[in-house]
Amino acid sequence: MTDLPFDGEIRRYFREDAPSEVRDEIEDAKKGEILATDFPYDKKWKRSEYEDALATIQIELVKMQAWARETGQRIAIVFEGRDAAGKGGTIKRFRENLNPRGARVVALSKPTDAEAGQWYFQRYIQHLPTAGEIVCFDRSWYNRGVVEKVFGFCDDKQRDKWFEQVNPFEQMLVDEGIKVFKIWLTVDRAAQLQRFMDRESDPLKQWKLSWIDVEGLKKWDEYSAAISETLAKTHTDDTPWLVVRSADKRRARVNAIRAVLQQLDYTGKNAAALGDVDPKITGGPEHLG
Ligand code: ADP
Ligand code: AMP
Ligand code: MLT
Repeated sequence: MTDLPFDGEIRRYFREDAPSEVRDEIEDAKKGEILATDFPYDKKWKRSEYEDALATIQIELVKMQAWARETGQRIAIVFEGRDAAGKGGTIKRFRENLNPRGARVVALSKPTDAEAGQWYFQRYIQHLPTAGEIVCFDRSWYNRGVVEKVFGFCDDKQRDKWFEQVNPFEQMLVDEGIKVFKIWLTVDRAAQLQRFMDRESDPLKQWKLSWIDVEGLKKWDEYSAAISETLAKTHTDDTPWLVVRSADKRRARVNAIRAVLQQLDYTGKNAAALGDVDPKITGGPEHLG
């Protein structure tokens, strides 16, 4: 496996550098146990129940997309969270049964030189939805609040400027009639490390790992500080954060989809089938832990 870019760095971190309580939590976990502190459930959601719930809400998503197309809605959903929080998997379930033409994913790479010379929001603006479209941002302009801060990809002046601009920027989107959702998937430290190790040992998942993930392991606390600050400053009335605890991916995915659908008045909505959002794992920044 020497052709794979990762060759045991994550496992080495686990053995040698991880805080002992995190290592113990992973080593002591029983099968199906959720790697999270004070999680309101002991076990992962039962697969059959998850699949039933997902199938039901997929039907609601399809109705929502039909409504968006017929009525020209523009829907932008921002998916944020630490590495391995489950952004990609949640987006996948959102789009699974949708017409891909009207439900795009935008996952931008690090800025090119030309982009780095532009206004920070500029490269995102061109990907905003047109009439009838749902756009899922897999990471977003929130990079400046968190990963760019933690890794020094921007300086404090640039970040301060960004904080001045981000709420007015989102307010403009809302005033323009774009439906904006901001989902923050929050993963616990042991769960993140376990997922990194799973990725490292799975050739089909290694592409999800990068040096940022490896280096980021040592920067858990810097991330925590940047995340709390960012969410506190950008949790507004018109563009609030939906924070979803994602140590159990199944509950996280279903709750994220439900929360979005609940806020949209699409034709043929079956609120009873859609079901309620679980306030134990879904809500505002108080769920950051
Ligand atoms: P991902 O988690 O999206 O798979 P990474 O963990 O490698 O990717 O990177 C996290 C984020 O940091 C990405 O959005 C990436 O574009 C961004 N990033 C990486 N390098 C830089 C850089 N030099 N300047 C600004 N952003 C960067
Ligand atoms: P997936 O994104 O479904 O490919 O899963 C990635 C990793 O998360 C795998 O190592 C799974 O064992 C683990 N995993 C899958 N489902 C869950 C769940 N419901 N809760 C916690 N971890 C999970
Ligand atoms: C995911 O878990 O799908 C993501 O959050 C991708 C990543 O950054 O590892």
